[in-house]
Amino acid sequence: MRLPEAWEPVGLVRPELVRQTALIGGEWVSSDRKLTVTDPATGACLGSVPDLGSEATLQAVAAASATFPAWRQHSAPERAAILHRWHDLIQAHTEDLARIMTSEQGKPLGEARGEVAYAASFIKWFAEEARRTYGDVIPGHARDKRLVVMREPVGVVAAITPWNFPLAMITRKVGPALAAGCTVIVKPSDLTPFSALALAFLAREAGLPDGVLNVVTGTAAPIGDVLVSHPDIAKISFTGSTGVGTMLATRAMASVKRVSLELGGNAPFIVFDDADLGEALNGAVASKFRNAGQTCVCANRFFVQAGIYDRFVDGLAERIDAIRVGAGLIEGVDLGPLINEAAIAKSSGHVADALHKGGTLVTGGRAIDGAGHFFKPTLIRDVTPDALLCREETFGPVAGIVRFDTEAQAITMANDTTAGLAAYLFTRDLSRSHRVTEALQCGMIGLNTGLISSEVAPFGGVKQSGFGREGSRYGMDEYLNLKLVCTSVAPI
Ligand code: SIN
Repeated sequence: MRLPEAWEPVGLVRPELVRQTALIGGEWVSSDRKLTVTDPATGACLGSVPDLGSEATLQAVAAASATFPAWRQHSAPERAAILHRWHDLIQAHTEDLARIMTSEQGKPLGEARGEVAYAASFIKWFAEEARRTYGDVIPGHARDKRLVVMREPVGVVAAITPWNFPLAMITRKVGPALAAGCTVIVKPSDLTPFSALALAFLAREAGLPDGVLNVVTGTAAPIGDVLVSHPDIAKISFTGSTGVGTMLATRAMASVKRVSLELGGNAPFIVFDDADLGEALNGAVASKFRNAGQTCVCANRFFVQAGIYDRFVDGLAERIDAIRVGAGLIEGVDLGPLINEAAIAKSSGHVADALHKGGTLVTGGRAIDGAGHFFKPTLIRDVTPDALLCREETFGPVAGIVRFDTEAQAITMANDTTAGLAAYLFTRDLSRSHRVTEALQCGMIGLNTGLISSEVAPFGGVKQSGFGREGSRYGMDEYLNLKLVCTSVAPI
């Protein structure tokens, strides 16, 4: 199928990586109904993918169920070898994958290349972990009892993934699932399906058997309905909003599925008077403006102590003014477009609300006129804790700064949220770093750093940010069931 003209300037080495078909049971499938995919930097049409409904989803469930017995019978080294080949192919196609991602998601090419490496790292990590899914031998509770615990794949997994990290949020789920011996159905975001399909194309080239990995594209509701209710789906892994995650988990419970949820955050970023100012500013820019503020672990609320407040605000303003905004495919751009018009409206609304409640605009503050969904990187000082900027996840390039005086105040304000994903803390005081990290209610903390994510570290939250952990050795547990064998042994 010919690609639309909008792909010409993208310069792909292998245009066949852009699939306009879904993948079910090893077949690339089409449908009469289509969903159009657009470039958020220009509004240009990049093509379309099938808008599959419940019937095609049922076929995907059937394919994944049919191949599960054979895939789980593969030895761990056999599964690992395929995953290693997939990892190598992802790396070898970094440039094409990054360009596809930037075209449909908007993030600057440098960040997209970084995401390809991040995505590949999960496949490699879990290829290695496949060989280490050890069980346990437990001392028996009676003289004649022997206890052995085995770890077995949970079965067919549905992975429902977001648009903000179109590759890495897939590999962070699919890597451990395949390594454990599960088969998978991926439902990527309608906004970024091409990255998911390119990934699946490379998985097939790596030798993944037909039906082990299926990608179902289309409108979320009919596909999600089948995935959460079908008795053959053993596990749902979802990354996205708290609202959708809660609904999926509630419905999945009706057939007692295993569920892991990586939901929204509202990360506090706390800077104490004794912090290294340069380190805090580097961390602030990295955490707040990565992916134009569209990450679940982005700093969302800045709490800065009175003694360092003005210097922090001035330093951050200077760094924000140096951020180059533009289409992600242009080399040297630091901040790309937001994903769509709704994201622009949310950032604009948060800015207006913060100013209305007493904040002062330092820089930015509005969308950029013209094509694409661009928003000026923004700094607002003297924000009040009741502002929407502090109450909700902004998911945009808007930094709002709240002043505080005491450590206790900072902790109280930081914990005053239903979310509990990430938090950041800048201090050079050892005792304070212990006190505050222990007091913060969240799943991950960056202490004197604004970047915390890695394939080797457990990613996940507490409170309404979800449950379960992705990445790291803990990430395998989400796709394994424990099975106890209690043997009665006759005496000699
Ligand atoms: C996310 O925004 O959900 C993922 C961010 C990350 O992996 O660092």
